[in-house]
Amino acid sequence: MSVFLQKKDGNSFLIKKESWKIINDTFENKIFFTGIVKSELSNLQVYRYVYSVELTGIKWADLIFELSLDEYNLQLKEINQQILNLIVVMVLGIFFISFLLAKVVSKPIIKLSHTSKLVSQGDLSQRVKIDSKDEIGELAKSFNEMISSLELSQKRLTNYKIDLENKVEERTKELKELNDNLEDRVIAEIKKREEQQQLLIQQSKLAAMGEMIGNIAHQWRQPLNALSLVVQNLKFSFDLGEVDDKQMNKSIQKINLLTKNMSKTIDDFRNFFKPNKEKLKFNIYESVNNALHLVDASFENHNIVVEKIIDENINVFGYPNEFLQSLLNLLNNSKDAFIENKINNGKIVIETKNDFKYVYIYIKDNAGGIAKEIENKIFEPYFTTKSESKGTGIGLYMAKTIIEQNMDGSLTNINSDKEAIFIIKLPIYKD
Ligand SMILES: Nc1ncnc2c1ncn2[C@@H]1O[C@H](COP(=O)(O)OP(=O)(O)OP(=O)(O)O)[C@@H](O)[C@H]1O
Ligand SMILES: [Mg+2]
Repeated sequence: MSVFLQKKDGNSFLIKKESWKIINDTFENKIFFTGIVKSELSNLQVYRYVYSVELTGIKWADLIFELSLDEYNLQLKEINQQILNLIVVMVLGIFFISFLLAKVVSKPIIKLSHTSKLVSQGDLSQRVKIDSKDEIGELAKSFNEMISSLELSQKRLTNYKIDLENKVEERTKELKELNDNLEDRVIAEIKKREEQQQLLIQQSKLAAMGEMIGNIAHQWRQPLNALSLVVQNLKFSFDLGEVDDKQMNKSIQKINLLTKNMSKTIDDFRNFFKPNKEKLKFNIYESVNNALHLVDASFENHNIVVEKIIDENINVFGYPNEFLQSLLNLLNNSKDAFIENKINNGKIVIETKNDFKYVYIYIKDNAGGIAKEIENKIFEPYFTTKSESKGTGIGLYMAKTIIEQNMDGSLTNINSDKEAIFIIKLPIYKD
């Protein structure tokens, strides 16, 4: 390599180890550039580098370095080699650092992933063993907590399932037992029901019978009086010795007639209380009259007046004697209310209305109505406000059962302070 200095005054000096040496005056005022040129010194192709020497802002010389091209290429090659080496070292370093980093970071993640895979396959006993204090450690901790609570929930679920299964099994057993006993139970229940029904019917019959005997007694009062009068007259005549065949026959005829009438009264009652076996068409007007006929003597005795506003042409289909029994119960209830409330001018109005499909029979009394507190109980069996000898409490229950279950009708009541109204609704029978 040759180095020379070109001063500002144009002198150029070759710089050697030993001394400065002026090499050429012809360089005077020559301007040098950096680049590959032909050297004026060696006549060879060289790489020239020009360094401008400036001091306190004044340029006083150019320092020119010339390097033979071989040397330059060698240097360049060396530099390239050095750069290449550096790159290789750097790449290797980066690889190594990356590998280390990857090992540190990804290992726990792989662990996590592996454990989560096992957990997802159902093995909840797995836990991640990472104790580091960084985010991954935190993640592993949360992950472990999550598996623990999952395991707990699964345990609870399993217990619940077992519990449920046991309960179902128990229930099934109970049901099976119940099912096995059901038939027996149903039979026993039906039998019990039948017995109760039978008892009810028996009681209602007894009540009706009592009622009937009372009514017969009333019906008989007049003929009995007449009979006693006939017998007294006969005795009087006999005492006077005036009894002749004619009077005897007349008296016997009278007695016969009266006893026949009395016997007819019993027949009337007996017929009405015989239960009907099959449904029949019957007339409402007649039915009401028949009922009134059975109670008129006792009504008369208690000064009870009955007003009838009844359509004579309405027929219904059902059990006439049971229906009559229902009417009698309603009429007797009114009579009892008159007696209970000491009403001397008792009046019952029986009125029918119809809408061509149904007939509505209104039975209204002015005995003071039904007390509000008991109004919703009167149709219950055994509900009564009367003393044991006077009422059993099944009259309205039986009447409702007969009308609603046997005749497709209804029995309801409207109540006020002054009067009680019972309404029987029945489908009209059309031929
Ligand atoms: N017209 C009425 N006025 C006032 N209270 C009534 C009338 N009808 C029914 N009741 C009341 O309803 C109750 C129940 O009547 P229900 O006919 O069912 O039984 P009961 O007349 O007491 O006894 P049973 O009819 O069995 O002889 C009666 O005790 C009475 O208190
Ligand atoms: Mg009654």
